[in-house]
Amino acid sequence: MSSEPTAPPFPRARLGEPLPAELLDDAERMSRAELQELQLARLQATLRHAYEHVELYRRKFDDAGVTPADCRSLADLARFPFTTKADLRDTYPFGMFAVPMDRVRRLHASSGTTGRPVVVGYTDGDLSMWADVVARSIRAAGGRPGHKVHISYGYGLFTGGLGAHYGAERAGCLVIPASGGMTARQVQLIQDFEPEIIMVTPSYLLTLLDEFERQGVDPRSTSLRVGIFGAEPWTEEMRREIEERMDIHAVDIYGLSEVIGPGVAQECVETKDGLHVWEDHFYPEIVDPITDEVLADGDPGELVLTSLTKEALPIIRYRTRDLTRLLPGTARPAFRRIEKITGRCDDMIILRGVNLFPSQIEEIVLRTPGVAPHFQLQLTRRGRMDHLLVQVEARSAAIGSEQREAAARAIGQGVKDGIGVSVEVVIVDPETLERSVGKIRRVRDLRER
Ligand code: DLL
Repeated sequence: MSSEPTAPPFPRARLGEPLPAELLDDAERMSRAELQELQLARLQATLRHAYEHVELYRRKFDDAGVTPADCRSLADLARFPFTTKADLRDTYPFGMFAVPMDRVRRLHASSGTTGRPVVVGYTDGDLSMWADVVARSIRAAGGRPGHKVHISYGYGLFTGGLGAHYGAERAGCLVIPASGGMTARQVQLIQDFEPEIIMVTPSYLLTLLDEFERQGVDPRSTSLRVGIFGAEPWTEEMRREIEERMDIHAVDIYGLSEVIGPGVAQECVETKDGLHVWEDHFYPEIVDPITDEVLADGDPGELVLTSLTKEALPIIRYRTRDLTRLLPGTARPAFRRIEKITGRCDDMIILRGVNLFPSQIEEIVLRTPGVAPHFQLQLTRRGRMDHLLVQVEARSAAIGSEQREAAARAIGQGVKDGIGVSVEVVIVDPETLERSVGKIRRVRDLRER
């Protein structure tokens, strides 16, 4: 009889240890110089592939007066034009595909808030690369063959569910494809199937946490050891809240449909110090969102990504709108990190001339006693002035009006001191604000256009 495959033990104390060298893949073992050499060869091939097979790229390169042959170093990439969401929308649905349709094996689409969706396609090779980078991400988060992974990212056109799914299988894990929704049942399944890992948006995790408590189950008592959270911004304060309430390690995963889906960058559990960009497949730059100038590593700005190995939809200098900065590698020395993404250019609220991101409010709410991590922002116009209402749930019904007023004052003061603008804060009853089943929508903009 063959020996039983057993899941390796997953003691909490050992989780912070570096990944054993034998579990690193070839690219993870490269030196920075070796990686850069690989990047340049792949970048040149990607530029040729895009120029030869996608009309839009050919036109844009021609307009900018560059050809793929002009890329002789990684720095030369800066001479090439950017790609935006509008380019993908304008060529809807398949105008930017670079291979014949019979080589496209799968489509995903991101809904977007306005206009046409953006459609992305994958060849067999793309799907395999995607599974590899997600598997690498899961290993970096502490996942090992034999672990059970509960996936609560939505399955369907959204890249979260299926992207996580095939990556977890590639990592040798057992997958529980729960998708989003049916929260009470998910809580039951987690207790019955005893997964070590959960992959979910941080906002839906909060919904699950409340459900554990509603069912009288101590969230710290579950089999879960690691949460891999992404698809929306979340703060260090949220990490602390989740780790404390669930007794798990919370790590960050980043990605976007246009570039592949989840698995562009991942935080390592042993350091939790930002996300290593899997630079053998995705080349990052930071640009000034206003002047478009390429910035040095360390400077904050907009993340721009170029795919290095994609076949169906090569993407050149894609403007992500996500704000971060590039830092040197740590746990994976060859791969630079991005700092935790705290916001998108598009999410920025300009309130009476002051720039404000929802994540800044999250930080303040989460350090205020008596309130829950559930909050919503509502923008209205009062006369000629913009007005921001911050609604926050009380932590429990037992929190009385005096405590609520104190919490509202503390949050208002925190915003005034930290961001420099006055907002109205109202503490509402528990379980009155809308809950997330996927990506949360924090801001309701009720101002007339
Ligand atoms: O959200 C892919 C994904 C699924 C990533 C599951 C991680 C986990 P889109 O729907 O195209 O793809 O949305 C991409 O979501 O440009 C960011 O603004 C935001 N985002 C994704 N991950 C993070 C993160 C998926 N870790 C957009 N932190 C991106 C902050 C994130 N924002």
